[in-house]
Amino acid sequence: MLPQEAIRAKRDGRPLPPDAIRELVSGIADGRLSDAQVGALAMAIYLQGMDDAETVALTEATRDSGEVLDWTGLDLPGPVLDKHSTGGVGDLVSLVLGPWVAACGGHVPMISGRGLGHTGGTLDKLEAIPGYSVTPDTATFRRLVKDAGVAIIGQTGSLAPADKRLYAVRDVTATVESLPLIVASILGKKLACGLDALVMDVKVGSGAFMPTPAASRELAEAIATVASRAGTPTTALLTDMSQPLAPCAGNAVEVREALAVLTGERRGGRLLEVTRTLAAEMLLAGGLAADRDAAFARLDERLASGAAAERFARMVAGLGGPSDLLERADAHLPAAPVVREVRAARAGHLGAIDTRAVGMAVVELGGGRRHPADAIDPAVGLTDIAELGAAIAAGQPLARIHARREADAERAEARLHDALTLSDAPCPAPPLIQDTIR
Ligand code: URA
Repeated sequence: MLPQEAIRAKRDGRPLPPDAIRELVSGIADGRLSDAQVGALAMAIYLQGMDDAETVALTEATRDSGEVLDWTGLDLPGPVLDKHSTGGVGDLVSLVLGPWVAACGGHVPMISGRGLGHTGGTLDKLEAIPGYSVTPDTATFRRLVKDAGVAIIGQTGSLAPADKRLYAVRDVTATVESLPLIVASILGKKLACGLDALVMDVKVGSGAFMPTPAASRELAEAIATVASRAGTPTTALLTDMSQPLAPCAGNAVEVREALAVLTGERRGGRLLEVTRTLAAEMLLAGGLAADRDAAFARLDERLASGAAAERFARMVAGLGGPSDLLERADAHLPAAPVVREVRAARAGHLGAIDTRAVGMAVVELGGGRRHPADAIDPAVGLTDIAELGAAIAAGQPLARIHARREADAERAEARLHDALTLSDAPCPAPPLIQDTIR
């Protein structure tokens, strides 16, 4: 089918057959479709939607538009597993989960992204570690996935190139917010990593990518269905993002938090609970545990023994970072020169957090980008962020700001006062794990 005929069919609300979708996606990847045609196609899909069969075909074609990683030659002793999140604030799950699952026998080739809008990016966090390279050669990446069990790196140009072009066009044609396009974009990249199973963490709440709880649920259901039909068993969890997941947000501060969790210095907490639940799903999906209790028991033992921390250290050293990060984190991770507390103006309970605004405060401190070419300041961010529902005394710190300059800290303080709402009555936080969709 000619591209213009396929675009016309979609524009008029007719479903596209799989071979027409494959043809369109290969034309996006190799440039046979013009930017105008890519934009028109994206708008037609945005307006008319796609049924499950079309979304599966779009996902498979996106996955197959470039290299699909093949691990068979490496004789890996365990399954190839990954997790993907729709992104949030203080969401450093990947830093803890990858090495933790590796310590339990999984192999985790995690291709991660940079911060987007108010959300932090795993690559930006890892780059706060001096020397850590997110663009290793393929041989190093494969060796680490085999030997350390985990490597967290950046997108290579050869994985799902159709998505790279389509996403850039969607970004400037008001067509990002389309369920089939989002599903195919996320899964096309993930499924190109040659996974045996995937676990998705779809966030719900004021810091989530999707605008409403219903939209988050719809995305989780579509991802679980489409990925499984495309041959990669996938479970999706709906988890709370109505407050930062960890009590910190930024880059070096989140690496410090990951180290604290991995070494057992930080016990319990929301970050640990979400990470442990996602990791248990991965062990189950990969056949590394017979049931949830066995998965949790194995995870707890591997964390307590230091095995998960050791995998993190191996990954960091293998990708060019310091070999003694665990022992000498303060010597290696940058710290900001200005530290300021945000103090409660009155007594009350922390009743609501505008998590998106908290994320934007980090961006404005220099911890994220306003423009794609901006450099990031790895040292800045927030720590000691109070939890939703906490009883707060007048003058008590609600968060600690780490800034490059006094003026930046002052701006962030004003923003945080607006983002953190005190209420008179106690108010419980939403449940952390809201649903599991298989
Ligand atoms: N993340 C992606 O990778 N693609 C989308 O379309 C949206 C979020």
